[in-house]
Amino acid sequence: MAESITITDNRTGESFEVPIVDGTVSAQQWSKHLPGIWFLDPALVTTAMSESAISYLDGEAGILRYRGYPIEQLAEQSTYLEVAYLLLNGELPTQAELSAWVEEVTHHTFIHENVRKRFLEGFHYDAHPMGMMMSTIAALATFYPEARNIADPNVRYQQIVRLIGKMPTVAAFAYRHRLGLPYIYPDPELSYTKNYMNMLWRRTEPKYMASPVLSRALEVLFILHADHEQNCSTNAMRAVGSSQADPYSTTAAAIAALSGPLHGGANEAVLRMLDEIGSKDNIPGFIEQVKAGKCKLMGFGHRVYKNYDPRARIIKRVAEEVFEVTGRNPKIDIAVELERIALSDEYFIKRKLYPNVDFYSGIIYQAMGFTPDHFTVLFGIPRTAGWLAQWQEMLTDPEQKIARPRQVYTGAEKRDFVPIEARGHQLVTA
Ligand code: CMC
Repeated sequence: MAESITITDNRTGESFEVPIVDGTVSAQQWSKHLPGIWFLDPALVTTAMSESAISYLDGEAGILRYRGYPIEQLAEQSTYLEVAYLLLNGELPTQAELSAWVEEVTHHTFIHENVRKRFLEGFHYDAHPMGMMMSTIAALATFYPEARNIADPNVRYQQIVRLIGKMPTVAAFAYRHRLGLPYIYPDPELSYTKNYMNMLWRRTEPKYMASPVLSRALEVLFILHADHEQNCSTNAMRAVGSSQADPYSTTAAAIAALSGPLHGGANEAVLRMLDEIGSKDNIPGFIEQVKAGKCKLMGFGHRVYKNYDPRARIIKRVAEEVFEVTGRNPKIDIAVELERIALSDEYFIKRKLYPNVDFYSGIIYQAMGFTPDHFTVLFGIPRTAGWLAQWQEMLTDPEQKIARPRQVYTGAEKRDFVPIEARGHQLVTA
């Protein structure tokens, strides 16, 4: 028998039945029977905004899959661009499809000279890279006015290729701008990650040879960050995209959401936290402060995972491989000890708080030579594929409309305008 819930309206005594489908009940069914009664769900904690076939996440079991493929297998055997293709198209590409896709993305890694000369060079030397990314990606909308035609699948595809191709270039230019170094243009002969590393770190050598261990580590980190169902920035992408804004403005909105310390900005915050802790001896005191509510253990906790984040497990292993090349980042020892103490403490056990993707990633990035303010950019580059896959899915879903939630008004009752001379100190209290 199909599962359902029966709801009785005690005002009228009328009952109606709502089927339970895939662990959800339809809010539309509810509003058909009870028009004008809304769900009050701050932060959408218990609301599914959409159906999606892109990533599967089981927070209790600590499972993440893209289009059905376990994240562990993709991290082991795939490349970032292959994963991007998978996310966007639903299936792994054939060799011919992959080659064509890689060639197209590579072709679009260059950015208009005005973007470099007029936008990027206009930023102050210490501008935060996320601010530079956000505004430069938004500015691209003005270079591709046809992008506003979001109903045309060919136009959409063209912008998807451009965005995935240009993100590393904008990120690398932002990086070099801060250091006052000349920009290095994309090298079409290199892979996605090697080209990015070349644009970041090439100095006087004619050809930058990225360490294969480090470029593979970056590839794995990109795969792990490529999508993560309805997280805050993806929700921003879907919400802004639902107004039919162009994909550059929409992606800029997603970058803005990612920049916050509770989301992608957590990787930067973790490094700053480890710096503040300074040594293993200070960990117990720091944990006491967290438990007293004075601060958070950054890189811990997740809205959906109530178990070890599978991405954090992989990143912890990759960190050791990276240290073989770069030398050990001593922060890893503080982080591992912090994790050990937290996972045996009642406060964290009771709340099911485990390390998330941001806990160990920054330690790798720092060992590779990135400064903390660049870490969230390293999250945003690969998440672009996920944002765009989710954006496309939203636009082609006949059930989706402009995202426009309801509210419960708690402000003042109707009142008459008071001329300024007649006003006392009236504070509106909600
Ligand atoms: N340190 C200390 N206490 C925490 C933490 C933490 N990192 N995370 C959650 N809690 C506590 C929280 O205070 C609450 O306690 P109580 O029940 O006593 O009020 C309880 O655990 C439940 O937390 P919540 O705030 O209701 O959980 P949420 O789902 O609203 O927030 C979160 C999820 C990720 C925003 C939160 O865990 C957090 O702020 N973590 C630190 C920031 C972080 O690492 N963010 C990266 C998230 S993963 C990647 C990404 O999305 O970018």
